[in-house]
This record gives sequence, C-alpha cells and structure tokens, in this order.
Amino acid sequence: MATNITWHHNLTHDERKELVKQNGATLWFTGLSASGKSTVACALEQKLLQEGIQSYRLDGDNVRFGLNKDLGFSEKDRNENIRRISEVSKLFADSCVISLTSFISPYRADRDAARKLHEEANLPFVEVFVDVPLAVAEQRDPKGLYKKAREGLIKNFTGIDDPYEAPEHPEIHLNTHEQSVEECVSTIVAYLKQKQIVA
Ligand code: PPS
Repeated sequence: MATNITWHHNLTHDERKELVKQNGATLWFTGLSASGKSTVACALEQKLLQEGIQSYRLDGDNVRFGLNKDLGFSEKDRNENIRRISEVSKLFADSCVISLTSFISPYRADRDAARKLHEEANLPFVEVFVDVPLAVAEQRDPKGLYKKAREGLIKNFTGIDDPYEAPEHPEIHLNTHEQSVEECVSTIVAYLKQKQIVA
C-alpha cells in the first residue's frame, strides 16, 4: 500500500441514506458456471429498478472485459478478481445502491473476506448461493464451456478440474433446477423486506 495517503470523508453513510432515502447493500451471488447467477441477478435488477430502487449488477464476464481484463482463472487471479469486486461492491453499497455481484467466487476465504469488508463498514452483505448439481449445469452448458473443458480445451474449469467451495451458511440458498427465476427473485425480495433493506 502507498504511504502518505489519508482518508477524505464528506457525508457519513447515515447522512447519505437520509438524503437518498435508500439503503445500500451487496447481494453476493455465488455458484457454478451456468448455475443461473446472472439470470436471477438480471431479473432481480429489473424488478428493483422498476420499483424505483437503485440497483446495479456486477457480472463476472462483463467485469473481465474491463476492470479485470488483466486477470485469468488461476487461483491467484481469481483471488484478485474477487478482492477487487469486494471493494467495488462495498463502494456501491456505501453509495446507497444495491449491488448484485454475480461471480463464481469459488473460494470460501475470498467470499468471507468480502463479507468482513462490508461488516467492518456496517454495510449489509447477503450471500446468495445459486445451487445446482454439476450434472445439470453441464447439461445446460449455454456457452459450450463444459464441453470444451471435458475435451481438455479449457484448463482449470470450475467443477471439472478446479474447485468450487460451496457456502456453508449463506443467507439465501436457491436451487435453480427446482425453483423458477420468479420464485428465486421472490425469495430474495422477501429476505430484503424482512431485513428492512427495502421497504
Ligand atoms: S471467478 O472464479 O469468480 O473468478 O470467475 P468469474 O469472474 O465469475 O468468471 C466466470 C466466467 O468466466 C468464464 N470462464 C470460466 N469459468 C470458470 N472457469 C474457467 N476456467 C473459465 N474460463 C472462462 C465463464 O463464462 C464464467 O461465466 P459464468 O457466468 O459463471 O458461466
């Protein structure tokens, strides 16, 4: 870290909340490729925006075209990917936006670090486990990546020859092979209302 740097603050988070009349939060979607993270996050983003709630989706593929274009899929790069997104989502939450992060985020320690970062800043962090059996994800294979991984054309593919550490105590556990997208969105919205993150 650089030296000779100091924090600059203007409003406190509570003062900002009072002015913008909205709570910020991070909804951290995690799951295998093709589990449905982005599909559910997209539908939720639409619903929140339609209800006038500022919401913004940070998506694995998209972020890797820009902010994280220097990162690949080694363990070290995935750690750095998630570290950066943890910081960015914290900024969104601090700005009173509901950020929806959809990254495989396969390592428990990385997700726990994201949670800690938010908790230290007193910002809500909701881990959403988008669960699906590997066989179902592999059958869906919308981008043909599982097929390539099985053929050895992609190395270190999550679930095939790279690990996925499932959450042990997620706030929300979705099963996208049994629940519809609408049901998943309703479950999340009900949680947000129950925790008074949204009205
Ligand atoms: S991670 O593990 O959180 O850093 O991954 P993420 O940033 O979410 O990127 C996952 C998307 O990248 C594509 N892709 C791969 N995924 C897993 N393993 C390997 N080796 C890989 N190579 C490319 C894939 O499209 C993932 O998108 P989703 O939406 O999860 O299917």
